[in-house]
Amino acid sequence: MVLDPYFEPAVGGDKAFTVEAPKIKFGTGSLSEIGDDAKALGMTRVALYTDPVVAKLAPLATARKSLEAAGIDVVVYDETEVEPTDRSFKAGTAFARDGNFDGFVSVGGGSVMDTAKASNLYSTYPDDFLAYVNAPVGAAKPVPGPLKPHIACPTTFGTASECTGIAIFDLLEMEAKTGIANARLRPNLGILDPSALATLPRSIVAANGFDVFSHAVESLTARPFSQRPAPENSNLRPLGQGANPYSDMACLESIRLIGAHLIDAVNETDNSAHHEALMFAGMLAGIGFGNAGCHLPHGMSYAVAGLVRGYNPPGWPSNHPMVPHGISVIVNAPAVFRFTGPACPERHLKAAEAMGADISGVALSDAGGALADRVIDMMRQTDMPNGLQGVGYTEDDLENLTDKAFPQKRLLDNSPQVPDRDQLKELFRASLSYW
Ligand SMILES: NC(=O)c1ccc[n+]([C@@H]2O[C@H](COP(=O)([O-])OP(=O)(O)OC[C@H]3O[C@@H](n4cnc5c(N)ncnc54)[C@H](O)[C@@H]3O)[C@@H](O)[C@H]2O)c1
Ligand SMILES: [Fe+2]
Repeated sequence: MVLDPYFEPAVGGDKAFTVEAPKIKFGTGSLSEIGDDAKALGMTRVALYTDPVVAKLAPLATARKSLEAAGIDVVVYDETEVEPTDRSFKAGTAFARDGNFDGFVSVGGGSVMDTAKASNLYSTYPDDFLAYVNAPVGAAKPVPGPLKPHIACPTTFGTASECTGIAIFDLLEMEAKTGIANARLRPNLGILDPSALATLPRSIVAANGFDVFSHAVESLTARPFSQRPAPENSNLRPLGQGANPYSDMACLESIRLIGAHLIDAVNETDNSAHHEALMFAGMLAGIGFGNAGCHLPHGMSYAVAGLVRGYNPPGWPSNHPMVPHGISVIVNAPAVFRFTGPACPERHLKAAEAMGADISGVALSDAGGALADRVIDMMRQTDMPNGLQGVGYTEDDLENLTDKAFPQKRLLDNSPQVPDRDQLKELFRASLSYW
């Protein structure tokens, strides 16, 4: 008996899945408890990471006040770059190195949480910058030992960086997005206070919402864990182990919440009624992809973000052109669902239904199409760019995009239908525009 026919055992396939559970506190007002949490982790002098925008907002003041009330020294670093680069990771590291801190707190979006993780790592175990970076770009050296305690407090809801041991950045000299991935980078505690979303601009709400949706749907439709080749020993089982019964639960509920709340949260002037649902959806998707792993939309997104030329998105203050993460993911997603639909049609149909599509009368053979249509409809209702052309790419870029995305083997192999190079190029072509 298997829990779902999708996980039917396969010859040579993995027989087990693991469950990684981040430590999370969730609730409106929970940020004001951070002083006690930091003390319990032994912090006496904290590096408080944020960015120039969040530095002026209520969540930063709340965290600072609570830390200081607990008798903790706090020094604020507010120079984090949005969509960080190696340059900004190095600047954050210099701040950590010079400050003699015994704890890290991050208050901000994925950019801030990731910068705090990297600064903690490089200031605690200094090494060549590329030493810890994922192969093949870097040497993927394991983190040598425990890091200083880190409490991550998101003020966005898309990345789930508070749940993961991942720090993403743009390596400027290679025009490539890459990252550092190691379980030791996972924050000791994530504090999710939905009231922190009160000031989030609507375009960022939309991009975050689609990032959450894509984490959830990619994890739900990922290759089943039972078909990934079994590891040589149990310590080598990857974090992205493929779809499994645990991540399924979290992902379907996450998709349902995004389907029910995202359009209104983007379009209503006062969207506070949706903050709790959005933040919970982001957390659930983080638990989902932290255990299952993403696949093609994320694999393709690193090329879309890395090769950006002149795109400056409305709503994002930035000192360099960029395609924000959620946008770089969702512009590929509809084309991907049409391609992966036939590999696990029931799962695509379930996702379409959870997202709010009317699936009565939809044949299984059109499950990927039904999901793609619902996503396109939601992109239009939330003013997302119209595919790759909407963020500045043309036919002439397809070869370059394919070259950059094809080496993302870990993500491509986690797809229920693994594309060859020509198919990947056709996926980029199909992503050029949707309406
Ligand atoms: N570590 C991971 O597991 C992981 C996963 C996915 C993405 N990422 C990375 O995270 C980064 C994106 O993070 P993000 O989407 O959370 O956004 P972000 O941190 O880049 O912030 C986007 C913008 O929103 C502003 N902002 C943040 N909170 C705000 C608030 N409450 N009110 C008003 N403005 C606010 C910021 O100042 C910034 O201008 C990318 O670099 C991406 O690659 C990391
Ligand atoms: Fe993402």
